[in-house]
Amino acid sequence: MQTPAGPWALRAGIVLVLGAVAVAAVVLLSGRHDEGVSSQGNAVSANRSEAHFRPVSRGPRPPVLGAAVDWELLRMPGTYQRLFLDHYRSLTPENAMKMDTIAPAADRLSFGDADALARWSRRHGIAVHGHTLVWGKQLPPWLTARSWTRDDLSSFLEGYVKTVVGRYRGRVDSWDVVNEPLAEDGSLRHNLWLRVLGPGYVSDALRWAHEADPGARLYVNDFNIEGRSPKTDGMHALLSRLRRERAPIDGVGLQTHLTLSSTPTGAQLRSTMRRYASLGLAVDISEMDVPAGRGRRAEAAQARVYRQVAGACQALPACGRFTTWGFTDASTWLGTGERPLPFTATGAPKPAWRAIESALNG
Ligand code: G3I
Repeated sequence: MQTPAGPWALRAGIVLVLGAVAVAAVVLLSGRHDEGVSSQGNAVSANRSEAHFRPVSRGPRPPVLGAAVDWELLRMPGTYQRLFLDHYRSLTPENAMKMDTIAPAADRLSFGDADALARWSRRHGIAVHGHTLVWGKQLPPWLTARSWTRDDLSSFLEGYVKTVVGRYRGRVDSWDVVNEPLAEDGSLRHNLWLRVLGPGYVSDALRWAHEADPGARLYVNDFNIEGRSPKTDGMHALLSRLRRERAPIDGVGLQTHLTLSSTPTGAQLRSTMRRYASLGLAVDISEMDVPAGRGRRAEAAQARVYRQVAGACQALPACGRFTTWGFTDASTWLGTGERPLPFTATGAPKPAWRAIESALNG
């Protein structure tokens, strides 16, 4: 039965309208975008200052220390597992959550390893950064062997992203939704997704992931975007476009695969990280390693590089995570002989570990 609208209801209605106006004003003033970009990634003049983006901050805590893990090694008690649990609070599956593992056949999804890793992580209180939903590499052969219409591939990718992200809703804290979308000149890399779906695949993938788990933080992740380069400019333009399109993006992962000779200066790295952070995004170090080979001099030079990057992350409130791509030289995509990681193959700390530990804790 309808009750007549009394004076209380009238006052309530006025409050609701004023509240809605206030919320709308906050949303408009908070802004989200400032730079338009052409499809070639050329930034065009902004009609808003970047100050409209609310800065992201991890607060008073140091960045979370993470590492990529080989699930085949982590699942077994031993040096590898013990070393990880002694020092790390975040993990990125090196391969267990990639499409070639999860979708080995056109009519089958295989979550065995990913489920076991998610259970193990929850049991040990380890945060999981999912890697990676959409990439131009490590695609299952059945996917690349056939031709695709735009609608069919879009339907497949939407279903895949929503199924995987939805399965780990509340258990995977963040995702590399799109990995390595850029070529070295800063344009979008010509992978299967761009060829068939067009440049919108990046924002579509972010939207699908957000719909499947609104609580997960969503990243775009790439390499060679740490210093001054056309690729860094291209990444800034892409992130600005995504913000302009109001795509649900929370952060950018700087893979930071460096060498002793090719590293950005500390000032270039800090300036680049601040530039991404000014878009209101988290700016994480997502896959760092530094091949150094043998010798004390090489290890000392390696430690200096790690210290510089970990220090830049610690100094930037928007840098919430410092992750190395592996943690012991016993398991690295570069080969053990490159000795790129903070612990030796037998689990002993190297100068690089001490450099990371002291830099992250300020
Ligand atoms: O699983 C198969 C196994 O069944 C087979 O017997 C074996 C030998 O052929 O290959 C195994 O697959 C390998 C897979 O790692 C799992 O070990 C692939 O050949 C190998 O190519 C793959 O390499 C991974 C690489 O990405 C692929 O591009 C590395 O482990 C992984 O560390 C590396 O990680 C990437 C990040 O995802 C993105 N950023 C760059 C980073 C380094 O390339």
